[in-house]
Amino acid sequence: MTAVIAIYSHKGGVGKTTTAVNLAYLAAQNGHNTLLCDLDPQGASSFYFRIKPKVVKDARHLNTTHNAIARSIKGTDYDHLDLLPADLSYRSLELAFSDKKQPTKRLSRVLRPLRQEYAYIFLDCPPTLNLLAENIFTAADRLLIPLIPTTLAVNAYAQMLAFMKKKGHDTQALYTFLSMVDARRKLHREVATAVYQQYPRVLYTPIPALSQIEQMGRHRQPLPAFAPRSTAAKAYQALWTEFQHKALVNRNL
Ligand SMILES: Nc1ncnc2c1ncn2[C@@H]1O[C@H](COP(=O)(O)OP(=O)(O)O)[C@@H](O)[C@H]1O
Ligand SMILES: [Mg+2]
Repeated sequence: MTAVIAIYSHKGGVGKTTTAVNLAYLAAQNGHNTLLCDLDPQGASSFYFRIKPKVVKDARHLNTTHNAIARSIKGTDYDHLDLLPADLSYRSLELAFSDKKQPTKRLSRVLRPLRQEYAYIFLDCPPTLNLLAENIFTAADRLLIPLIPTTLAVNAYAQMLAFMKKKGHDTQALYTFLSMVDARRKLHREVATAVYQQYPRVLYTPIPALSQIEQMGRHRQPLPAFAPRSTAAKAYQALWTEFQHKALVNRNL
């Protein structure tokens, strides 16, 4: 069964794209057909895979949403890993979004036919808390939330949880990990402890703040592809293993 995994936060710069790129790469490396959907119009995950966003000038020949999506998917340099580039996924979504019925289920419908082709579909989400966010909550089987352990970020996280609950979305599908953790900072350590005590489904594996991770922008590659034995690559591998174990195995996906 396919797992649609949204790497989501309504905050920017918290590690969503970096995590989506690395986890999608790790899933594909295990031999599973994997699709990474770049839902952020800034196109960051497309950038990491050296895929040039191509602008489709005339959308009239794209008669159905499914066709539009299928034509838009690009291969990457890596086996089993495909990418739906940002502008193209937006164009497809716009087509689907022109359907006024069930406005929160549009993304879900766009992804449905792709479930037959992929074991994992990762959504690299833009920082929004609007209708697109609701589409993401509805479409995703699991949400994976990067949370930087600072007081302000945790307040924003609590607001996001409240928004989800108010809108009737299932917070049981939501898993969180601590992102960009600097263990030398007392505040990070204290807030991290409080997060583990206060919130359910916080994964045990943190992703530390490491300059190695920033190097991905220079290499334009997933981290485990250019530095497989690095501390950072090991952290992403541990996070993926833990997430699979806790969120995906035996959870009726
Ligand atoms: N664990 C980390 N340690 C250091 N830098 C990081 C880490 N995770 C992400 N970054 C850097 O922080 C910036 C924002 O990360 P990104 O994944 O693009 O965030 P988002 O998608 O949430 O906006 C990028 O420059 C990225 O290289
Ligand atoms: Mg991003």
